[in-house]
Amino acid sequence: MPTMAGKADLQGKTVFVIGGSGGLGQELCKVMAAQGAHITVFARKRHLLDEAQKNIAASRRDSSQRISTVAGDMGVATSARTLITSQPVIPDILYCVAGGVPDDCGYFLDLEPQAFERCMASNYYSCLYPAQAVLKWWTEDDAKSGTPLIPRRRKIVFMNSTATLVPLPGYIAYTGTKAAQRALADTLRLEAMRYSGPKSTYTVQCVFAHNFITPTFLREQKMKPELTKRIEGTSGATLADLEKEIPHASQVAREIVEDVASEDFAVVGRQLIPQLLWANMMGTSPKRGWGIIDSLLAILTIFFVWPINQRDIQKKCFGDALNKQ
Ligand SMILES: NC(=O)c1ccc[n+]([C@@H]2O[C@H](COP(=O)([O-])OP(=O)(O)OC[C@H]3O[C@@H](n4cnc5c(N)ncnc54)[C@H](OP(=O)(O)O)[C@@H]3O)[C@@H](O)[C@H]2O)c1
Repeated sequence: MPTMAGKADLQGKTVFVIGGSGGLGQELCKVMAAQGAHITVFARKRHLLDEAQKNIAASRRDSSQRISTVAGDMGVATSARTLITSQPVIPDILYCVAGGVPDDCGYFLDLEPQAFERCMASNYYSCLYPAQAVLKWWTEDDAKSGTPLIPRRRKIVFMNSTATLVPLPGYIAYTGTKAAQRALADTLRLEAMRYSGPKSTYTVQCVFAHNFITPTFLREQKMKPELTKRIEGTSGATLADLEKEIPHASQVAREIVEDVASEDFAVVGRQLIPQLLWANMMGTSPKRGWGIIDSLLAILTIFFVWPINQRDIQKKCFGDALNKQ
């Protein structure tokens, strides 16, 4: 598929990565460190942060790049704000990557209510609180600093999922939280524009990532109901089968960093399926690039692909619970 990637210039930039100690977050940190960025990683578990710091430092372009780690739960408002604003250097970019659904896959009636709260904290609040703290810091910094020759470029990148673009039974605790995150990103994109001017330009982007292999994804595979896997096409798949179809996080991270440089709101990746799902669900979000590819894909999807796909999903769901009794 054609891509709308731009060119990232991360040399000397400071990037805060929420959820950068493992999986995709750590791979993103490694890619950006290799391109000259200073990285600060936020996550909860100290031992994983220490391990990540070594790995990210080993990927640096230059030993003068700072790789720092901060331990804390970013899904808690007070600690997120304190931990962000106590950093010695203001970031240029914030990546909100924390999230996932490692322990809370399952059907609505089978999940305890606390599963929904956990998912909301790890997928929504862990992004909202850092985004608010960083944007506040940036605007305060603009208010007290002089006007540079070229406006500073400041951006927030939210890690979303194609699970927001298609209803999948078994992901019900997760999809609502990512849908909320998408709505946050959509609205914040416009609110952040309010502060753009001669001092800084503010951009908000949302990555609709499709499945990629991380230890958490493999844990989720074990928890997912059979129906979810049948709809996704991963039923009965061994790791070797999955690896034929699904990229590893390291590959996806390289593509994301490249595609984020496009400045498009939606970062959808190179595979055809996510692009079709995006085209079907763009709604009021801005189209990518000139909008030509998204518009053509939307016609294809709305008239042909989704009606067939929807019937297939409904057929798989109908009576599924009764068949198991
Ligand atoms: N894997 C996929 O197939 C897939 C597909 C689409 C989208 N995504 C999205 O991509 C993102 C990364 O997925 P992944 O598979 O790479 O996940 P992962 O390996 O489980 O990594 C999650 C990271 O977030 C941190 N984290 C979680 N909750 C946090 C909190 N409350 N405060 C601070 N840090 C927190 C974790 O460290 P601690 O646990 O130590 O805090 C870890 O560093 C998620 O947002 C997920 O929804 C994944």
